[in-house]
Amino acid sequence: MELDGAIAVVTGGTGAIGRSVIALLEQRGARAVAWDLFAESGSGDVITCDVGSVESVEEAMDRTVAEYGVPTVLVTVAAVSGGISPLATSANEQEWERVFTAPETWDRVMRTNVVGVANCMRSFARRVSVTGSSGAILNISSMSSGPVAEPGLAAYSASKAALNQLTRVAAAELGPLGIRVNAVGPGMMATPMGGANRPDSVATKNSDARPADFASSAVRYVPIEQRHGTGEDIAQAVVALLQTDWVTGQIVFADGGLTLRSPVTT
Ligand SMILES: NC(=O)c1ccc[n+]([C@@H]2O[C@H](COP(=O)([O-])OP(=O)(O)OC[C@H]3O[C@@H](n4cnc5c(N)ncnc54)[C@H](O)[C@@H]3O)[C@@H](O)[C@H]2O)c1
Repeated sequence: MELDGAIAVVTGGTGAIGRSVIALLEQRGARAVAWDLFAESGSGDVITCDVGSVESVEEAMDRTVAEYGVPTVLVTVAAVSGGISPLATSANEQEWERVFTAPETWDRVMRTNVVGVANCMRSFARRVSVTGSSGAILNISSMSSGPVAEPGLAAYSASKAALNQLTRVAAAELGPLGIRVNAVGPGMMATPMGGANRPDSVATKNSDARPADFASSAVRYVPIEQRHGTGEDIAQAVVALLQTDWVTGQIVFADGGLTLRSPVTT
């Protein structure tokens, strides 16, 4: 697919990874529009949108089409982590009530990370199909969708596993409409502090809630350059898959090889 001149929607486009994706898409000649809960000044073209609401997504799509034209690229980056909230704990009875994953957390995480992506893909496919052009969707998953099972991240991990299969089903359904659907799963990221300041930020799970030495100790299992991933690393994988015409329904981990390794192999 040719990105030069394409209209691209990037959900979560004012967040850490979303900004890098937009920057690379624009370098390749696309016009990128961020759909986000937060419309920050200096973030470029932003339309305020809650991906978990069908009405909000349809409004954002109407505005996008009216102001920019029908998009042929959709990158779904928007997600929430739900914070570190275990399924269970071995602590005392009071701790059980305090720390477990609350039903509201499950609802918010699944609504944003799974239903939100479905809402956006549906709206996008509907618009693209009437124009007769081809399109490409790229969903941002996570190493937590399968390769890594991290304690405390039940809701987030389940949502990303669901997202992987949603990606595959959408690829099977939308292929005949000329729309490819793939996913990129980031590994351990060096997420800027900006993300951590937001309520519901994905970044808070890395910056606030993990043990301080977690990220620095895990980084030695990254075969490539023994470092954290950056937004630019993820953006490169996103753009490569968007441009690769004979690949659909694939989940590609952009993690420097982190999930190939395990502490028991060292
Ligand atoms: N940062 C990491 O360590 C990491 C690791 C693996 C996967 N990921 C995935 O990468 C993606 C981006 O992560 P990030 O680090 O840029 O996080 P971030 O918190 O900086 O950005 C997420 C963006 O999504 C937006 N958002 C949240 N809920 C929304 C909603 N309902 N509607 C519209 N926008 C909404 C937020 O406002 C924010 O701008 C997420 O899908 C995340 O699961 C991140």
